[in-house]
Amino acid sequence: MPINIHVAKTHGFCGNDKFGVEGSIQTAINAQKAHPGQVYMLGDIVHNIHVVNKLLEEHQIKTVYSIDDIPDGSVIVFRAHGSVPELFQKAKAKNLIIYDATCPIVTHSHKEILRFANEGRKIIYIASQLDHDEAIGVKGQAPEAVVLTTLNDVTDLEIDPTTSVVMTQTTLSKLEVDRVKEKLKAKYPNLEFRPGLCYATTSRQNDVIELAKQYGFIIIVGHPTSSNSNRLKDVALDIGADSYIVDTPLELQPTWFVNKTDVGISSGASTPEWLLNDVIEKIKDLTS
Ligand code: F3S
Repeated sequence: MPINIHVAKTHGFCGNDKFGVEGSIQTAINAQKAHPGQVYMLGDIVHNIHVVNKLLEEHQIKTVYSIDDIPDGSVIVFRAHGSVPELFQKAKAKNLIIYDATCPIVTHSHKEILRFANEGRKIIYIASQLDHDEAIGVKGQAPEAVVLTTLNDVTDLEIDPTTSVVMTQTTLSKLEVDRVKEKLKAKYPNLEFRPGLCYATTSRQNDVIELAKQYGFIIIVGHPTSSNSNRLKDVALDIGADSYIVDTPLELQPTWFVNKTDVGISSGASTPEWLLNDVIEKIKDLTS
């Protein structure tokens, strides 16, 4: 029997042509229009290899993983997740034309970090992983002042609540953050928290939680490197639903659909809509 497919209200690319994933992609395309054939993105502009590949195939925009691989005088596009200041300095020293595709929400957190660091405060920054690109960019803003940690480790830290402030990566699980915040508040009642999850993370997670409560079965379309996509899967698991993440339709397993009548489906903020549609079509095939 065909399964009923319920697509989350908010899903897929965040932002518009000025910010978020949409804005970052548009920045790269604008750079290419202004400087055809000379544009290099430093690192994956967003955490989805299909987006990176399309920018190469359709717009001839190359991705490199070291600034040394960009010829002097050409164009560099900095990724959505933010980058360390040294890379901007190196780009200037190489006479590169800079297009900054950092999401303005990440830029805002960089500014806050600099302000806190200038006030002599420590920033306890909770990341999905210590080597996540957003976390690396954040640490680079004020290496002496930022203490990188994870949701698992932060509650074991000895924190001075009079001088410290807690910030988070934009794409963590809101459920996990709330639990950890409660624990930290119990230990340090006066510790300051700055809201860190972005609107796109929160709205996509809220919608997935609703679908997970209603149907108990969730599929997320997102790349394995995408923190926000993985957290969509996690929030559904967190409230007891069956939940899986797939990068492409090929990863769907027929056994997941046995005895299921309904499935909720969503996609991460870096997942193109065509990929979500391909997964939906494959689910229809598998359950027809
Ligand atoms: Fe920006 Fe949040 Fe999207 S930080 S890139 S609006 S997931």
